[in-house]
Amino acid sequence: MKIIKVRDYEAMSKKAAVIVSSQINMKNDCVLGLATGDTPLGMYKELIKMYKEEIIDFKEVTTFNLDEYYGISGENEQSYKYYMDKNFFNHINIKPENTHIPNGMAEDIEEEARRYDSLIQGMGDIDLQILGIGRNGHIGFNEPDVKFEACTHLVDLDDETIEANSRFFDDIEDVPKKAISMGIKNIMHADKIILIASGIEKADVIKETIEGSISPNVPASVLQLHPNTIFILDEAAASKL
Ligand code: GLP
Repeated sequence: MKIIKVRDYEAMSKKAAVIVSSQINMKNDCVLGLATGDTPLGMYKELIKMYKEEIIDFKEVTTFNLDEYYGISGENEQSYKYYMDKNFFNHINIKPENTHIPNGMAEDIEEEARRYDSLIQGMGDIDLQILGIGRNGHIGFNEPDVKFEACTHLVDLDDETIEANSRFFDDIEDVPKKAISMGIKNIMHADKIILIASGIEKADVIKETIEGSISPNVPASVLQLHPNTIFILDEAAASKL
């Protein structure tokens, strides 16, 4: 586990983008695992800039997003599909057929989970996985008490997560109660992982994740077992280490 401490959100975003761009330049047809939330937005902006400056090319890149809300369609502005198109995919030359996000509207969600897992496996797993972290230690939507051996599955969201994510919705009642998420097993199979965190509200959970015991109560703590994980933390997020 490597920890890189940087000054602020901007430096965190730039550092993460540089690692992603090196990955793409090392292997043009690499497979990236992508995250949503506020934290990666700056990294996506940096990557778009690098694409426009012709430093990187997404023509051969494949992506798998970690998760999607259950029961809302890709046209819904709150969906992660909408977020990805708006904040990243619409600005780069990635082929739409190479971008994958679980379908939160699938009639048979277990079948959708199996389909997603076999797509990932079919690509030989993920080369570089980007993660944010929830205040309760979730990665993707793997909430506390997670089963470390799980692959993609339907998740009941914690009240704390629903509350945290209600900032994106008009009303807390509109926040979906479930999501479909890659499991810890998918994440742990990635060759390399970058977890990015910024801000004082992440400081406690970052301390527990890095210095606490490995426990399903803090899902991100499982990353202590991954051989090639980099934490990129700004000063505030790292302030309790
Ligand atoms: C969301 C996502 C996670 C994300 C986390 C933190 O619910 N499912 O992938 O890492 O919450 O979000 P933020 O970066 O906005 O703090």
